[in-house]
Amino acid sequence: MSESMHGMWSSRLMFILAAAGSAVGLGNIWRFPYVAGENGGAAFVLAYLVCISLIGVPIMVAEIMLGRAGRKSPINTMQDLTVQSGSRPGWRVVGWMGALAGFMIVSFYAVIAGWAVAYLIEMASGTFNGADGEFAAAKFTSLTSNPWTVVGWHTLFMAMTTFIAARGVGEGLEKTVKYLMPTLFVLLLVLVIWAAVSSGHFMEGLSFLFAFKADQFSTDSVLMAMGQAFFTLSLGMGAIMAYGAYLPKSASIVSSAVTIAGLDTLVALLSGMVIFPIVFANGLEPSAGPGLMFITLPLAFGQMAAGQFFGTLFFVLVVFAAITSAISIIEPAIAWLVEKLDSSRVVAACVVGGAGWLVGIGSALSFNTWSDLTFLPGKTFFDSMDYLANNIMLPIGGVLIAAFTGWALSEKIFNEQLADVSVGVRAVLRVLIRFVAPVSVFFVFLMTVFFS
Ligand code: PFF
Repeated sequence: MSESMHGMWSSRLMFILAAAGSAVGLGNIWRFPYVAGENGGAAFVLAYLVCISLIGVPIMVAEIMLGRAGRKSPINTMQDLTVQSGSRPGWRVVGWMGALAGFMIVSFYAVIAGWAVAYLIEMASGTFNGADGEFAAAKFTSLTSNPWTVVGWHTLFMAMTTFIAARGVGEGLEKTVKYLMPTLFVLLLVLVIWAAVSSGHFMEGLSFLFAFKADQFSTDSVLMAMGQAFFTLSLGMGAIMAYGAYLPKSASIVSSAVTIAGLDTLVALLSGMVIFPIVFANGLEPSAGPGLMFITLPLAFGQMAAGQFFGTLFFVLVVFAAITSAISIIEPAIAWLVEKLDSSRVVAACVVGGAGWLVGIGSALSFNTWSDLTFLPGKTFFDSMDYLANNIMLPIGGVLIAAFTGWALSEKIFNEQLADVSVGVRAVLRVLIRFVAPVSVFFVFLMTVFFS
């Protein structure tokens, strides 16, 4: 098939912006800095970079390839490709597991993104000007402890996401990333320059990210780094596969994947370079956990000259990044509903967005009414969704995608999709997809089971 029934990206650049839009999100700006902070900084960053290049890039190539070969939703793409390759029908589980992981992810994603919308408004109205630590912490608690406020912001964010998704691939997704992604890059650069010039602690921030300290390297950090690599690149659940289905035939998959992974990594590192200097400049703790972005940063912005302006810019950046990711999390399920029920895109988007919103209530309540309720041992609904999806389901999904592409997909399809690269590059990729990526994920799992 040369075109998808859902529409197509108008160029390779638009695909790169859309996939980078999916990849760059809360994972880079909210999650990466606090997880790096909790896991010793540089040691974590190193493990993360290794995971991105050895596991992330090959799996991204595989996902784009499968998507473009199938040109349908991940569920139906997997169905068609197993038939065409004469492989076992069991591989179809990849599509279904991905859709499930999508609902789990969007459920906590939209809650955090909702907080970011709330903070954008607070920042812009000067709430944090001159605030002290106690005030910033109390503000965070008052936002998160009221179930109605959390659910309210979560609802607003899900409604915006559903609205964009309902408008379709060209009018909704492409138009959004076309304007938001370049703006996001400019905002981030402005903030990095500001942190470098005015925080006075830029070098301290850099050395936290890049100076390797072996003693802080634990087995658990390696699993966290791997989970983060999957999450940040949107891999293992079919989001990139769904976007690959709309990629024109002539575009190069390998160079696109390298560009997307490169942009994503750059944004994570640059976000760290904005956040850590501010944290150190104010004598705060880099290991503050999920509140790092919502307590320490507003506090820091409130203390700084022009902090209201730059703080507002920062939260605009976060909200833009979150929206361009959220639309990709629900795309696989929307595309499937359109194919399955022949329903209109608007109906499909409302059904999927509504279902994601409903599961999200569980995450929203984890900070208040349900804060004592545990699902996985010792973990609230929110923490359970985050842990299960990122550390377990995405890596398993990723391994299955790599294994299918490397072992079960017909060689003809593999070579056709990578026709633009040399035989040598194709051979290296095949080894990475067949052996290196699946074996490393498996190894990290084993280590976690036995050593942590
Ligand atoms: N990559 C996104 C982020 O870093 O925020 C999150 C994400 C998007 C995960 C899409 C999974 C996905 F399919």
